[in-house]
Amino acid sequence: MKHNRRAVLKGAGIIALASTSSSNYSLAHTTTNFDKIPRIQLTNLPTACNKMSNMTKALGGPDLYIKRDDVMELAHGGNKTRKLEYSLAAALNKGARAVVTQGGLQSNHVRQTISGAAKVGIEAHVILSNPVPEMKEKLMGSGNYLMDQLMGAHIYIAGSEGRSPMVKKVLSELTLEGKKPYNIPAGASNGIGSMGYVNAGRELIAQWERMGISPSHILTATGSCGTAAGLLMGLRYFGNSSTKVVSVSVSSPAPQLRKRIRGLLNDASNILGVPKNFVKTEDIHVNDDFYGKAYGYPTDAGISALRMTAETEGIILDPVYTSKAMSGLIDLIKNNQLENAKDVVFLHTGGAPAIHPYAEYFKV
Ligand SMILES: Cc1ncc(COP(=O)(O)O)c(C=O)c1O
Repeated sequence: MKHNRRAVLKGAGIIALASTSSSNYSLAHTTTNFDKIPRIQLTNLPTACNKMSNMTKALGGPDLYIKRDDVMELAHGGNKTRKLEYSLAAALNKGARAVVTQGGLQSNHVRQTISGAAKVGIEAHVILSNPVPEMKEKLMGSGNYLMDQLMGAHIYIAGSEGRSPMVKKVLSELTLEGKKPYNIPAGASNGIGSMGYVNAGRELIAQWERMGISPSHILTATGSCGTAAGLLMGLRYFGNSSTKVVSVSVSSPAPQLRKRIRGLLNDASNILGVPKNFVKTEDIHVNDDFYGKAYGYPTDAGISALRMTAETEGIILDPVYTSKAMSGLIDLIKNNQLENAKDVVFLHTGGAPAIHPYAEYFKV
């Protein structure tokens, strides 16, 4: 299987497009040009976009919708699945027999990368660090970490020196073994990974048209920024010039996120062959009012938002990302802070497996 893996995958319809270089895209933003970028299908798309009637009623504001990127096929799914459709295609095109990535002990990105690697038949080596030292046992006892183990990942725990030295070491060992390791950055947030959300932008434009809505805002939890940057680029690239993408930070002050999003927009512009200022910096909207103490530490408002979404809509958010973003949505709606708000969409980026290690926060 390993030697002719690409042929096997191609035969099985898993590799959609396997060998085009990503340069030389013209300025015409046609589906065809974007579709030349190598991608493998890892889940069925589109995901659902549904009205949250009960939340809308409870908040008494504009109509609220939810884009269900939490329901996908890579071991419970989430936003990283879309990015991995491009990152893993790049890995396979380079002949990689192993993929290396990194994240926190409860990283959703790491869990989906391991699942994707298993699906396409390559090894997954993951370097994990602990963002919440006082929760070590819980974070290593259930949720994403447990799933990582079940899926046969090679797991390395980084110490106080951080993840980078260990990533380097693992990459060089795998190279010596002839496995041509492919390195995916944290959150798959680079130009290639962000193409997953360029694709989501195109998907949403078509979906909203079918639904007869034209959203003023779409809110998303933002950490490493590939989701927000890709989505903003995708909407603009495929012709939506009006929906504001609002990044609700889960970990860092707004200037840091703005800079990261700008950098990723530039990388995405290179891949798509559009000018660097195709998406203007004024079009980047970041809110850092809702992340609380730090990454990985739930907030009271986030826990309330998670409960409210669960009780009114029967939808489970996560304690680290989407609950903080939903607390932002609720606050901004209640305080009339979304200008000309209409058909506001919440992007559910997944993460629910992490409710288990964080169970103590939900005791009644
Ligand atoms: C559930 C969830 N939501 C949002 C994000 C943030 O996405 P990004 O890193 O692309 O900003 C992540 C990233 O790990 C995530 O796991």
